Amino acid sequence: MRYVTLMDLYNHRITQKYVNRSGMAHAISCAYHAFHLAKQSNVNPDLATKAAFLHDIGHYTWYRDGKWDYELYRTNDIHAIKGAERAHKLLIRLGEHPVAAKEIALAVLLHTDSYLPTGSLELTPLQRIVALADEQDEEPKGGHHYRVISDKRARRMLTQLDNLVNEALDPLPLQKDS
Ligand SMILES: [Fe+2]
Ligand SMILES: [Fe+2]
Repeated sequence: MRYVTLMDLYNHRITQKYVNRSGMAHAISCAYHAFHLAKQSNVNPDLATKAAFLHDIGHYTWYRDGKWDYELYRTNDIHAIKGAERAHKLLIRLGEHPVAAKEIALAVLLHTDSYLPTGSLELTPLQRIVALADEQDEEPKGGHHYRVISDKRARRMLTQLDNLVNEALDPLPLQKDS
């Protein structure tokens, strides 16, 4: 059973404010990648799609003298940490199961290692899928953060993905007697 759908997330003002900042088109496309990866690896598609959809919700804007400053961003960015906390708070507010909210928050926290000291982490299958979904949608020079999508198309795509997740979670249909 699902406590929170992608459309529940999309409709919330926190998502509108922060996911739009880092790119709604990127978030939706990552959620689709995560769905397919989750199906291939037998990972819960509900958790994978929500974590991928929210993975960049922690982005902050780094401006100096009114201009985006990539160097400031690269040095000081902690969007995965901020995003994990923000995603967790949002999910709990919307009624997510606490175990699922924690798993999703951890996948958001570990979707990138750019802010971590050098070393290697052993990721769970869910965490690996979210990181991979992000990579699959990346464009050079961060172009993926600037792709746009209309509200109508975003709603259509997320409703469709919600349906796919529901179908994937449903037990197999009963065989008809011949
Ligand atoms: Fe990110
Ligand atoms: Fe991303």
